[in-house]
Amino acid sequence: MQWPAHGGQPKKLAASIGVSGIGKMYDYSANINPFGPPEELREHYLHAFAAVSSYPDPDYEAAHEAIAEYDQVDRGQILLTNGGAEAIFLVAQLFTGKRALIIQPTFSEYERACLAFRLDIQHLMLDQNFLFPVDDLLSKMPLVDVVFLCSPNNPTGTLLSMNDLERLLKKGLETNTTVVVDEAFVHFLPCRFEAVHTLITAYPNLIVLRSLTKMFAIPSLRAGYVISTESFIQQMKKQQIPWSVNGVVASLIPVLLAQTSFIENTRNWLEQELAELKRRLTKLHFEYSPSMVNFYLLRDKERPNDTAELFHFIVSNGVIPRHTHNFLGIHGDYLRLAVRSAVENEYLIQVLTKWREQT
Ligand SMILES: Cc1ncc(COP(=O)(O)O)c(C=O)c1O
Repeated sequence: MQWPAHGGQPKKLAASIGVSGIGKMYDYSANINPFGPPEELREHYLHAFAAVSSYPDPDYEAAHEAIAEYDQVDRGQILLTNGGAEAIFLVAQLFTGKRALIIQPTFSEYERACLAFRLDIQHLMLDQNFLFPVDDLLSKMPLVDVVFLCSPNNPTGTLLSMNDLERLLKKGLETNTTVVVDEAFVHFLPCRFEAVHTLITAYPNLIVLRSLTKMFAIPSLRAGYVISTESFIQQMKKQQIPWSVNGVVASLIPVLLAQTSFIENTRNWLEQELAELKRRLTKLHFEYSPSMVNFYLLRDKERPNDTAELFHFIVSNGVIPRHTHNFLGIHGDYLRLAVRSAVENEYLIQVLTKWREQT
């Protein structure tokens, strides 16, 4: 079976399990903000066309200043990247030939990036509630040079607490281990959660990765960045391909980061929508990961071994989930679904109700 490597390819996914001729397809396979991109972006995007005939500023001054202001860090602590994906590969390159620990199941690109730069990889699994195994992690730290953590984690939506992160960083200072925290989904968290990057001053072994893709629904634009110490940032900048981020996108970064009410409205909507979805899934006897963000893992509590059938059923009914065959340790046992608009979530619940009624 040839499964698509990532979400966001509904036709390919349906075809891969032999389903065709469905009318409307609702795509729950990519974790993208259903309200985006922000309206203002369209106008600025057209305006930014003027930038196509010149090379981008190699230092991306305006974009870096906007990020520094947004995250309240020094300009020298940031590196603009071609999406969060480039940030992952730049970090892996820093540790070429060394030893990495990846907490699984998680985003598959950490492993791919580590393999590309010949890192020796060890894996550690989340616990059965999809939470970070902090004590095991602490005991593994002396054995590795870098730990890749995704928080909120894709595909579970679960978080590492600041307290636990600080324990890891402290240990990492003793063992000379760098901790990488990929925060691609951080913008979806309610404001009460503290910002991880504030720990960089006390812990120079911390590298934070960000993506603007998910919150602003711009997967094709490719915008992300790294926050870390000036020393790590300088090393990564040396390795980065010149003009890696195109000038049109770079000129839109200040516009995106100024969308504070768009972010706020999305967060408020998500908190309510997620609570409602969890309530209804519980009522229907489905099991889900304790996600804090805009996606979750799902399986039928009454038929936990029938995920392949459930997959086929919902796809045939126009609901496209993300398969989990390439998430280590899950082997397709769960489906990952994005939290979509209220209408789409309602549709999903109707399809799951139909599944429950036929069993
Ligand atoms: C955890 C995580 N990090 C990074 C990325 C890559 O983001 P980008 O599209 O900005 O490269 C993704 C994309 O799915 C992701 O899930």
